[in-house]
Amino acid sequence: PLQFAVFGHPIAHSLSPQIHQAFARQFGIALEYRAIDATPEAFAETVQRFFQEEGGRGANVTLPHKSAAFAQADERTQAATRAGTANVLTSLANGRLSAHNTDGAALVRDLTERHDLDLRGHDALLLGAGGAARAVAWSLFEAGVQNLTIVNRSPAAADALADAIGEPARVHTRYWEDLANIGSFDLIVNATSAGTLGKSLTLPFSLAGSRAACYDLGYGKSAFGFLAWAHAAGARYAYDGLGMLVEQAADAFELWHGQRPATGPVYQSLHVQGT
Ligand code: ATR
Repeated sequence: PLQFAVFGHPIAHSLSPQIHQAFARQFGIALEYRAIDATPEAFAETVQRFFQEEGGRGANVTLPHKSAAFAQADERTQAATRAGTANVLTSLANGRLSAHNTDGAALVRDLTERHDLDLRGHDALLLGAGGAARAVAWSLFEAGVQNLTIVNRSPAAADALADAIGEPARVHTRYWEDLANIGSFDLIVNATSAGTLGKSLTLPFSLAGSRAACYDLGYGKSAFGFLAWAHAAGARYAYDGLGMLVEQAADAFELWHGQRPATGPVYQSLHVQGT
């Protein structure tokens, strides 16, 4: 069968194999989709072997390898270049690798289509300015948010991201220390890695307006802290990144197989499993 994989470290609990097999069943496609644990030191060589020797057609890439995946590719989409990271690698003819970043598009699709949020004209707060934040910032802006405020613990990274977007009338930064004094937002996206690292964020309740939607790019345990804060702050909606995970998988699947899978049933079954 066709060979696919997800690379991460750790990777044992990845949902990607299950998601891709569910998509493949929708079309009667036979594929092998493995979870490959590679340390940062071994990543480049493991990817090389997968694509050059093991017949790999495509791979998803997750923490902590998204920057390394971007660096290893021969060609890069605009979305990957803007983020400086890749979540999808695809083998091209002549052994070259192309890097994509579908995380931003996946987030916007999950927010607007699955959760029915209208982003246009709304004020959004992006927490974080690392790889995950860079992958979604342009997409939020392009989806029409009125104002995008980027706040990062280290202000320089937030300023660099806002400068790179280059829309000073609609995209600005504030200091993390000022979070209690910057009013409320319609949409708050947690793109920090605090949850993944087992650290809690101390955020003021004043950030969440009564109609606010709060979204954590992580899912499962890593999102619990932020979503608990959102509920305690009185936010109207609180979502984890499970829908984004399924959507970015669908983008990869379409790149590799030329067919767009239905994400609703796959999302529902994972959601019910309580991930
Ligand atoms: P990822 O690929 O998950 O984005 P990253 O590029 O290392 O990982 O970025 C991690 C992000 O989470 C950064 O914005 C980081 O803030 P700093 O730039 O100040 O390091 C943020 N972050 C991590 N732990 C945090 C914490 N405990 N509180 C606030 N922000 C945190």
